[in-house]
Amino acid sequence: MVRLLLCLVLLLSGCFATVVRGKKDVCRGHTPNDNPLVTQMTAELMDEIRAEPDRLFPPRFAFGTATAPYQIESGNAATDWAAWEKLGAIQNGDRADDGPQHERHFSEDIALMRGLHHDTYRLGIEWGRLFPTKEQFLAEPPQPDPVAYQYYRDLLTELRQSGIEPMVTLHHFTLPSWLASPPIASPAGVLEEEYPALLARFAAWSADAYGDLVDLWITINEPGAVAIGGYIGGVFPPGHFLAFDEFTLSHERFADAHAQAYDELRGHDRTDASGDGVAALISFATHNRLWLPIDAGSAKDVRGAKRVRYISNLLLLDAAVCGNFDRNFDEKLDEQDRVNDPRLKARLDFIALNFYGTGWVSGADLEPFRGIPNIINPASGRVHSDFGWDVAPETLLPVLDELKQYELPIYITENGIADAMDTRRPRFIVDSLLAVSSAIARGHDVRGYYHWSLIDNFEWASGFCPRFGLFGVDLTDPNRARIEREGARVFREIAAVRSVPDALRDRYVYGAEGLRCK
Ligand code: BGC
Repeated sequence: MVRLLLCLVLLLSGCFATVVRGKKDVCRGHTPNDNPLVTQMTAELMDEIRAEPDRLFPPRFAFGTATAPYQIESGNAATDWAAWEKLGAIQNGDRADDGPQHERHFSEDIALMRGLHHDTYRLGIEWGRLFPTKEQFLAEPPQPDPVAYQYYRDLLTELRQSGIEPMVTLHHFTLPSWLASPPIASPAGVLEEEYPALLARFAAWSADAYGDLVDLWITINEPGAVAIGGYIGGVFPPGHFLAFDEFTLSHERFADAHAQAYDELRGHDRTDASGDGVAALISFATHNRLWLPIDAGSAKDVRGAKRVRYISNLLLLDAAVCGNFDRNFDEKLDEQDRVNDPRLKARLDFIALNFYGTGWVSGADLEPFRGIPNIINPASGRVHSDFGWDVAPETLLPVLDELKQYELPIYITENGIADAMDTRRPRFIVDSLLAVSSAIARGHDVRGYYHWSLIDNFEWASGFCPRFGLFGVDLTDPNRARIEREGARVFREIAAVRSVPDALRDRYVYGAEGLRCK
């Protein structure tokens, strides 16, 4: 109180300085990976959460779903993923063009969102669809494809007219063909020196084109996943395997690209579309798991889990919040690293957390990711999704605990389950939203929850095998009928009353596991 009064008195000088100093303090006290490592999942935690009383989500807490353009649209031929598909890299030879064709059905999909009581919806705009050639992109001013430009304007306008706040992602895994074109080695996508400046230009253009409709921006979705898939696992373009130098370099490019795109969005989006006094809130989406050692008694596994956790959960957040980029990923900041770099730091308005539960690690050499993280542990004793991932909604709490050091509000920008038979999704949604509610009660500043996903979609290297939709999509139907799943009914019931009612807690149990996707 005294502090508040003092702030009021010293409004112009003192308070601002306090805020700035506060931010610096977060970084001064922060040494990489300094949190204690949780080594085990605790099933009891879910029981504790389930026993907590029914509470309302805060008044401005936002419910919604998330998608990515390449995963739900057809006609994105001018992208690296379209070229990747042609190389036969996708399970069953699936092609995104045969998917839900959202560009033809977006009004129908927005009606589904309204029916689910959405406050918000996370979508992406496809860079290569808007700018199929580099000439169009580099023209002054940039010359987008007019149909693509209008399509996204119509989509965003209809969302706003429906009272649904859009959150827009600029780079969700895919790049225009003129920036990345597998199997050709050059252009090399995010490894290109010009990638940060190009993404920043796309950010500036997007803010000019759509900033009157958009206040929430995500620059890049899951940079870590792009790097693992593309340079370690070989399952995303450009398909390189255990290419450690590319893996580390891509992270530095991402750190710069995010910071530069942040500055352009901040400078160009000056319109407060929602009327809450804020024109733009900007983040990148980080995919954080509770990384656990397969054998908690093995020093090597414990060390591996700690290492993977540092690289995939914290490294890029340290860059965007504190300006620290640990170039060789050795968990120390020394001369070769970027420390307190003003070109990187203080570029995060909130944490955008994509959360899918646990990940397991066995072994670790000093080379980052030599002890390859394995998301699956067949012996975990848990129910599994069709991807084989553990169903462990309560692990959200330790993941949020780890993020507390950054002192930023959090949106859960993705959370969902691959479950074609819908035998586990209803209970998963109940338990996941109970975990969110419990996290808020325990002091975590969680502002919203986006379920992945509204409709079934093209799940990257796994094609259409994993089904993440609250609504299934009949891919054999020329009209691509959307089919409501029980998961949608549960989500609707929770969003309607803005709490997880007692009656829902025991209505569902985790049912039989179905097919297993790669
Ligand atoms: C990605 C989505 C993907 C989802 C489920 C996230 O890592 O952002 O594009 O579909 O996980 O695998």
